[in-house]
Amino acid sequence: MATLALLSLLALSPCTSAFQLQPRSITPPDGCPIPTWQVNNFQWYNGSHSLDCIHNQADINARGCLCGHGWCEPDPATCNGTMVNVCWTGMPSYEPWGYGPLETLDIEFEDGLTCHDEYIGYRIHDMGHGESNCGYADRGAGRIVAFYGTTNLESSTGHMDYALGRGHAMKCENGSSINYYGSTDFELSCTYDAFYNATCTAPVFEIPVLSYEWVL
Ligand SMILES: *[C@@H]1O[C@H](CO)[C@@H](O)[C@H](O)[C@H]1NC(C)=O
Ligand SMILES: *[C@@H]1O[C@H](CO)[C@@H](O)[C@H](O)[C@H]1NC(C)=O
Ligand SMILES: *[C@@H]1O[C@H](CO)[C@@H](O)[C@H](O)[C@H]1NC(C)=O
Ligand SMILES: *[C@@H]1O[C@H](CO)[C@@H](O)[C@H](O)[C@H]1NC(C)=O
Repeated sequence: MATLALLSLLALSPCTSAFQLQPRSITPPDGCPIPTWQVNNFQWYNGSHSLDCIHNQADINARGCLCGHGWCEPDPATCNGTMVNVCWTGMPSYEPWGYGPLETLDIEFEDGLTCHDEYIGYRIHDMGHGESNCGYADRGAGRIVAFYGTTNLESSTGHMDYALGRGHAMKCENGSSINYYGSTDFELSCTYDAFYNATCTAPVFEIPVLSYEWVL
């Protein structure tokens, strides 16, 4: 699988060397530790009818019948509750009548860091378009794991950026604090069920450390 992807990439761009496909981490400054960021588990579910209030104009415009604590058929003539915009914040479960399971994203690192997003109406995190949710306490320390990709292709290239964050800065032998950044492309594979619900996964991959900054 990995070999096939490598071969097809090489075939497409004969000048690309294998080294560029798997960049190595930098050598840290003398006396400084360097982190290893390995993604052990990557799982992204995007249903064909997951509510999408950011990119799907039909969803943004859609109205549903909110009846009690749930949804009834969105027909204004028979709605015994209130017709509301399905994209308003705070709507129950965010799976209105006619919509399928909500979108979720899970990224698990070897060192225990776990990032989990699930659709919550207004999308604090826009899955596949940047920052993911690795916990708010963590966010305060400045750590950002950003993911870019699509669920619309069986096989594609995902991209992940990692900023360690000043709150997680590492200590060098001489007492200086150092913050690291990394980035990589990776193989993203999606499978679809009969309803075109997509489940995307990636083989274990490492995000190489590519730059650093001193934290004063
Ligand atoms: C600590 O070491 C690094 C790299 O060896 C150096 O760049 C930095 O200036 C040093 N910090 C102090 C406070 O001496
Ligand atoms: C509204 O009508 C549906 C059936 O059409 C029913 O299941 C639901 O309990 C009703 N809700 C209220 C708030 O009356
Ligand atoms: C797939 O999508 C259909 C249609 O939205 C939905 O009813 C079903 O629950 C979904 N199945 C899974 C396994 O997510
Ligand atoms: C999620 O799935 C929908 C429906 O198949 C699709 O239109 C949308 O582009 C997908 N989102 C991403 C980020 O790939």
